[in-house]
Amino acid sequence: MGGSGQRGPSFSRRTGWCRDLGRFGLLSREARRGSKALIDLTESNPTRCGLLDTAPLVASLGDRRGTCYDPAPLGLPEARAAVARYYRQRGAEVSAERVVLTSSSSESYSWLFKLLCDPGDRVLVPQPSYPLLPYLADLESVELVSYRLIRDEGWRIDLEALRTVVDDHPEARALVAVHPANPTGSLVRPSEAQALDRLARQRGLALIVDEVFIDYPHGAGAPSHLPSFAGQSGEALRFVLSGLSKVALLPQIKLGWMVIDGPPAVATEALGRLEVIADSYLSVSTAAQLAAAPVLDRVGELQDDVRGRLLQNLSALDSAIAARGPGCPLRRLPSDGGWYSLIEVPRSRSDDDWVARLVEQAQVLTHPGYLFDIEQAGTMVVSLLLEPAVFESAIGRAVACWSEG
Ligand SMILES: Cc1ncc(COP(=O)(O)O)c(C=O)c1O
Repeated sequence: MGGSGQRGPSFSRRTGWCRDLGRFGLLSREARRGSKALIDLTESNPTRCGLLDTAPLVASLGDRRGTCYDPAPLGLPEARAAVARYYRQRGAEVSAERVVLTSSSSESYSWLFKLLCDPGDRVLVPQPSYPLLPYLADLESVELVSYRLIRDEGWRIDLEALRTVVDDHPEARALVAVHPANPTGSLVRPSEAQALDRLARQRGLALIVDEVFIDYPHGAGAPSHLPSFAGQSGEALRFVLSGLSKVALLPQIKLGWMVIDGPPAVATEALGRLEVIADSYLSVSTAAQLAAAPVLDRVGELQDDVRGRLLQNLSALDSAIAARGPGCPLRRLPSDGGWYSLIEVPRSRSDDDWVARLVEQAQVLTHPGYLFDIEQAGTMVVSLLLEPAVFESAIGRAVACWSEG
C-alpha cells in the first residue's frame, strides 16, 4: 500500500471534459451572487417564473397505485395511451403502441444514440443548437457533426449544405431536427420536413425530431408550420421526442417520451431493441407514469398562460427597441416559437464584454449567443418566460445599455 509506482484509477476519455466555468460561467455566478436587484434573463426554469400554480398537477404523483411495482419497460399502457391522446388532441394520429416512455428528452436522446450508433459513429445536428447535445453525444461515444441553419433566411435549413455533410460522413447514423429550434425558435417548414425524410431514407439515416417546444408557436411563420412530425406520413425511421418538462412545465416530474414512425418492420425492430434498453434501466418512476394522464389532460390552461406571456414579452421587447427610434442598432431576430428570443446588438464589444457590461450597468443577465454555437458575434439570447412586469423592466434597461454602447 502506498508504494511508489502506484496508479490511481483511470477515467474514461469521454468524460474528460474541461470543467472550467469559462468567462460567462464566472460572470453569471458572480452576478447571481452579487446583487439582489439582478434580473436573470437567462431563466428558463418554468418552476421559477411565477406561472400558474402546478400543485394540483404535481398532486397526481400521489396516486395510491404507485405503492406497487409492476415494471413495464416501454411504459405503463395507460401512460402511453395518455401520450397518444395528447397527440390526437393536436390532430396527429399516434398509436400508443408506438410510444416509449423515458425519464426526460435527454434520456430519449441517450437511448436513441445507444440504439442507432456504435462508438465513433456520427449524428448530424443543427447549428446553432442546444448546448447539452455535445455532452449527451460524448456520453454515448458518438460524434456530432453540425449542419447549418441560415440566419438571414429565418434559420431555414441549408439543405444543400446538409446533403454535402451527409456525403462527407458515411458514418452518420441519425439526423436531428429541432422543431421549433432552441434557441432560434425556427420551425421546420413542411417542404423541409419532406426533404429531411427523403434524405434520411435515401442515406439510411434515422430522423430524430426534438419537439419539446412544439406547443409554443408564436411567430408569423407559425400558422403554416407543420404541427408535429408525429403521425405524419414518411418513409424514414423517425423518432419524435418531447416530455412534461416543457409540455406541462414540470421538469421535476421527469417524464419524457418518444414516438416511433416509419416502415413497419424497421419501427418494430427499433421498438424491440428499445424495450431491452429500457428494461436495463427501468428509469421512469411508477408515480410519474401514473401522473401522465391526469397531467397531460390538464395542460391547456398552463400552456395558454405561457403562450400569453411569450407574446406579451416579445411585444415589450419590440416596443423597447422601437422606442429608441429608427437609428436603433438593435434588431430582434424573427422566430416562429419557443421560449427564447435572439437580439442582434452592436459588435463593438465581444459577447462576454456585453454580458459583463449589462450586469454592471443594467443589472440584467443574458446569455451570449456563442453558448448555443451561434457563429455571428453580437447575438444575445433572452428567455421570454419571466413575469411580464419584470421582463419589461429588465429588457428596457438592457435595450438602453446595448443601444448606448
Ligand atoms: C431543445 C431541447 N431539447 C431537449 C431538452 C431537454 O428536455 P428534458 O428536460 O426533457 O430533458 C431541452 C431542455 O431545455 C431543450 O431545450
